[in-house]
Amino acid sequence: MIMASTTALNSGCNVGGVVVNRNPLFLRPSSSTLVKQSWRRSPKLRFTVRASETHADGPTKKLGLSDAECEAAVVAGNVPEAPPIPSKPAAPSGSPVVPSLPLSRRPRRNRKSPALRAAFQETTLSPANFVYPLFIHEGEEDTPIGAMPGCYRLGWRHGLLEEVSKARDVGVNSIVLFPKVPDALKSPTGDEAYNENGLVPRAIRLLKDKYPDLVIYTDVALDPYSSDGHDGIVREDGVIMNDETVHQLCKQAIAQARAGADVVSPSDMMDGRVGAIRAALDSEGFQHVSIMSYTAKYASSFYGPFRDALDSNPRFGDKKTYQMNPANYREALIETSEDEAEGADILLVKPGLPYLDIIRLLRDNSSLPIAAYQVSGEYSMIKAGGVLKMIDEERVMLESLMCLRRAGADIILTYFALQAARCLCDENR
Ligand code: PBG
Repeated sequence: MIMASTTALNSGCNVGGVVVNRNPLFLRPSSSTLVKQSWRRSPKLRFTVRASETHADGPTKKLGLSDAECEAAVVAGNVPEAPPIPSKPAAPSGSPVVPSLPLSRRPRRNRKSPALRAAFQETTLSPANFVYPLFIHEGEEDTPIGAMPGCYRLGWRHGLLEEVSKARDVGVNSIVLFPKVPDALKSPTGDEAYNENGLVPRAIRLLKDKYPDLVIYTDVALDPYSSDGHDGIVREDGVIMNDETVHQLCKQAIAQARAGADVVSPSDMMDGRVGAIRAALDSEGFQHVSIMSYTAKYASSFYGPFRDALDSNPRFGDKKTYQMNPANYREALIETSEDEAEGADILLVKPGLPYLDIIRLLRDNSSLPIAAYQVSGEYSMIKAGGVLKMIDEERVMLESLMCLRRAGADIILTYFALQAARCLCDENR
């Protein structure tokens, strides 16, 4: 029987104190996700099926008859009363009267009710799937990032810890760090990248001290440390030097691993860096540290807000000699087989939503876990559309994340991690 109870099956989301009622896609964390909920909101109606309960005023009051007596009554023709066959709901007047189509398959049958839709949902979205990218700086305060509403350069000693704590409260226990490095520490060879007392290693040590089970991903690339704003060392003629850059990246990865990083993530797109980093980590005793390779990273204009956030725009030229051409599909397979052979643990596709075909391509061609990066431009577009009231920000956010999962991503790096996880927890209570 159907009963009303007090938790939400229809999805709801508490944003800025306002409860928004939604029922889009049955986006909910898997039931195995244990989530500590640190905040409360008003309950809403929910329908659950409870076989053991009965209507108070219904015809089902027990008469104390045995099974045999009940059966005998029916056989004798004393059939107890039940509600009548329901009448056909009326169509609005003016509806055309037509013979029903002779369809052997009506897919809408399986979409008929919330319970059926939930039963047949193919993809799930959980806070456990999210990796939360966090910008950090040397300052004490958190500085808002203009092009990314809701994102801040977090002070590494305070804001960072608070944000991580909030994320953990809703089941997001994985983060990736991006540093805003003082200009005075940038150089053509990006040596600050492997300073063991630099911003990133320091922040990792602090986080691990406070939250030993937090999963920390790091970015391996020179751009935040490069006075040229490139991911590698730039030769006088403008060429990005591959093997020399890889040498620096190995040192950077080791410094991050030594500080306590769990997963180092080369985002630089130099050739051969995964194998070199694997060998370097192993030779220093970091066999347990994973590599998430940015396997298919495209030279995308969707990175604009991120580069503003870190002030890491290339000082000249673009990144097209190392990042992939957005027009290319097969080339992603070349990168995939290289990264697999070199020992990558996770393969990443970036950007996310405009590159769903690439996510699916990697999913179908590798057994490794696939990551998708919903990049800054994707985030900012959804935020902007929401602010302008052109789209429903919450629904579009959750739908885009679900679509990345459907395309084949196991994990998603997303600036929405905290906001989305809160919505998912809210729905699930
Ligand atoms: C650079 C790096 C970039 C991003 C992550 N790592 C920018 C770039 O390649 O220029 C972009 C992330 C985003 O846009 O959200 N190594």
